[in-house]
Amino acid sequence: MSAAQKAIVPLITPYKMGKFNLSHRVVLAPLTRSRSPNAVPQPHAIKYYSQRTAPGGLLIAEATGVSDTAQGYPQTPGVWTKEQVEAWKPIVDAVHAKGGVFFCQIWHVGRVSNSGYQPNGQAPVSSTDKAPYSQHTDEFTPPRRLRADEIPQIVNDFRLSARNAIEAGFDGVEIHGAHGYLIDQFLKDNINDRTDQYGGSLENRCRFALEVVEAVVNEVGADKVGIRLSPFADYMEFGDSNPEALGLYMVQALNKYNILYCHMIEPRMKLIGQKFETLHSLLPMRKAFNGTFIVAGGYGREDGNKAVEENRADLVAYGRHFLANPDLPKRFELNAPLNKYNRATFYTNDSVIGYTDYPFLEEMNA
Ligand SMILES: Cc1cc2nc3c(=O)[nH]c(=O)nc-3n(C[C@H](O)[C@H](O)[C@H](O)COP(=O)(O)O)c2cc1C
Repeated sequence: MSAAQKAIVPLITPYKMGKFNLSHRVVLAPLTRSRSPNAVPQPHAIKYYSQRTAPGGLLIAEATGVSDTAQGYPQTPGVWTKEQVEAWKPIVDAVHAKGGVFFCQIWHVGRVSNSGYQPNGQAPVSSTDKAPYSQHTDEFTPPRRLRADEIPQIVNDFRLSARNAIEAGFDGVEIHGAHGYLIDQFLKDNINDRTDQYGGSLENRCRFALEVVEAVVNEVGADKVGIRLSPFADYMEFGDSNPEALGLYMVQALNKYNILYCHMIEPRMKLIGQKFETLHSLLPMRKAFNGTFIVAGGYGREDGNKAVEENRADLVAYGRHFLANPDLPKRFELNAPLNKYNRATFYTNDSVIGYTDYPFLEEMNA
C-alpha cells in the first residue's frame, strides 16, 4: 500500500498541547505499579517508562505522594524528599532521551490508608471522619477530619511537590483529583460531610481542589499543570448526587486558571476495571473546558479513534493496554494485535515480571 492510500488513524495524528508538539494522541495513563520500596523510585523504572516512550508521546507517571501522610498503598513512590527527586531524575531523563513528554501525577490518598502507612502510626487525614467502605475491616483506619486551619499545609504539600517534580525534570504535573482520594473526598457529597467553608455547597466542596490548582499554577505555571477528575465514579461509596453539575462546575472554574489539560474518567468506568452501560457523557464538560481534554476508561483502538475523530477528546489515555503493550501507539498505527494484560502482576513488586517483560511487536514476529 502506498503512503497516499494509507488510511488516516485519528489516534496517530499530531496535536499541539500548549507548548508540547505531540506526534500522536495515545497517552500513557497514570498506573500505580507498587515497585518503589520506601517510596523511592527505582532504576528498573527507567526501563519501564522508556519502553513506553515514543517520540512526541505524552506519558503520565504513576500516582506519586506529596508528603508522608499521602501514602496508602505498598511501594508507591513520592516526590517530597530530595532522595525521591534525585531518584526520579534518571527516569525522566530516559523518557526525554527518547523524545517523550512526561508529567508526574501528584496525589494524596486521604482516608484510603491505614495507620501503618502514616507517620507515628497516626490516623489518616480526610475531609471527614468516616472510614471508606471496606469488606475487610482492618484495611482502613478511621480518618481524622482535617481542621480548616490545617488545609493550607496540605495545599502547600501539593505546591512543593509540583516544584520538586519540575526540579526532577518532569515537563509538568497532573493533580490527582479522581478515584476517591483526598481531593475527591472533598469534591463528592457522599463523603464530604463538613459544615465549614470546605463543605456543603458545590462551591465549598470544590474549594480545596481549586486552592491546590491555584497554588500549583502559581508555583510552576499554568502551562505545566493538568488535573484528573472522575465526577461519575462511585466505588467505595464515594459518589456524588449530581456528577454532571460537579464536573461542569469544576471545568468552568478551571478555565479561570488556564491550566493545560483536564483528564476525565468516562462515566462507564463507575468501578475500576469494569465497564457499565450509561447514558451519561463527558461531552458537556469537553465543550465547556478551554484547554486540552483527555479522556480515559475502557478505550480500545476503535472507540479511541472515534473519540478523536468526533472531537469528543483531544487525547485518549490508555491504562491496561499500555501497561501490557509498551509499543501501543505503533500497534494502533498498524492495527496490530495486542498483548493481553495480566491482572495478577499489576501490583506485584517484581522489577521485571509483569513490568518490563511484555514483548514488543518485533520480538513477537522475530
Ligand atoms: C494497575 C493499575 C494502576 C492504576 N493506577 C492509577 C494511578 O496511579 N492513578 C490514577 O489516576 N489511575 C490509576 N489507574 C486507573 C488508570 O489510569 C485508568 O484510568 C484505568 O485503568 C481505566 O483505563 P483503561 O481501561 O485504559 O485501563 C490504575 C489502573 C490500573 C489497572
